[in-house]
Amino acid sequence: MKKTILAIETSCDETGLAVVRAEGGLSAPKFRVLKNLVSSQVKVHRPFGGVVPGLAKREHIKNFPILLKKLDSARLWSSIDMIAVTVGPGLEPALWTGITFAEELSKKNKKELIGANHLEGHLYSVLLSAKRKKINFPAIVLLVSGGHTALLLMKNLKTWKRLGETRDDAAGEAFDKVARMLGLPYPGGPEIERLALRMPKGEKPSIDFPRPMLNQKNYDFSFSGLKTSVFYYLRDAAKKKSKADIAASFQKAAIDVLVCKTFRAAKDFGARSVILCGGVAANRKLRNEMKRSAKKTGMNFFVPKMEYNNDNAAMIAAAGYFTYLRSKKLPMKANGDLNI
Ligand code: KG4
Ligand code: ZN
Repeated sequence: MKKTILAIETSCDETGLAVVRAEGGLSAPKFRVLKNLVSSQVKVHRPFGGVVPGLAKREHIKNFPILLKKLDSARLWSSIDMIAVTVGPGLEPALWTGITFAEELSKKNKKELIGANHLEGHLYSVLLSAKRKKINFPAIVLLVSGGHTALLLMKNLKTWKRLGETRDDAAGEAFDKVARMLGLPYPGGPEIERLALRMPKGEKPSIDFPRPMLNQKNYDFSFSGLKTSVFYYLRDAAKKKSKADIAASFQKAAIDVLVCKTFRAAKDFGARSVILCGGVAANRKLRNEMKRSAKKTGMNFFVPKMEYNNDNAAMIAAAGYFTYLRSKKLPMKANGDLNI
């Protein structure tokens, strides 16, 4: 069951290469991240206000040899048992660069190659901390990234059901779009969080933006109406309030919906744990609100360490390990729409 995995992540605008030692199988998985290299392309895409697939592809190809060199490739291959690579979801031209690179490495160094689901990577990223509590099941997972927003009911580490997802924009996408309206650079999530922190001490967000689908008895989300409300507010009434207040009020509305629907699902399904993951899980306000609600309801709360929230290859090693352990493998081709 022990495997040292070289993992490759290229689904969007981060080139990730990691080496992770995995052991314990499905019953007691343990991961030791030996190297986790991420080369961000933010600066390249920023002038365009979002990720340009063709540029992402070019940058990944440029980054591979640089990152591989940093892994000390001379000593590397004797310890590697397996290569894991993201096959989806994501931008297909970007995914293909990772797959082709992984295939070349696998052939040259005679190592087994395994495809991994990026969303499973986010899900399993909570397992990457060595000193963590055991997750008690059932667990509710809130997966919030730039491309996805989903609520899962997890029966155990390999079995789950999708309870709901977003009907329009993903949570991270809403942060990115609202940031753009406020004149902030890409990616907008961290920028909104930073701007919201500029509210004067003791003052609370004062604009009552809508909380879409909060009172509907389902586990789906919608962020497009909230985003449009911010747009109209900025057009018609912006001068009344500071930008920091607008950012903080938007952030609060989005977080209220995410936390409320997650804990409603947790209550409905008798969850013993709540897991938060995906790029938006880097938001400290969201982490704190989730933690507070978990404490109030007596549930265990799990969230990845800061370095594993945004796209990285360490999480792909974890997803690859679980894919290796189960019988159903993923085809070695880019699948932009792969779901969890
Ligand atoms: O998981 P991720 O790195 O890439 C995808 O798989 O999509 O997530 C990126 C998303 C972006 O939309 C980014 O704005 C958002 O996560 N994000 C945040 C924060 N940090 C990243 N959103 C809110 N607050 C943050 N601190
Ligand atoms: Zn991601």
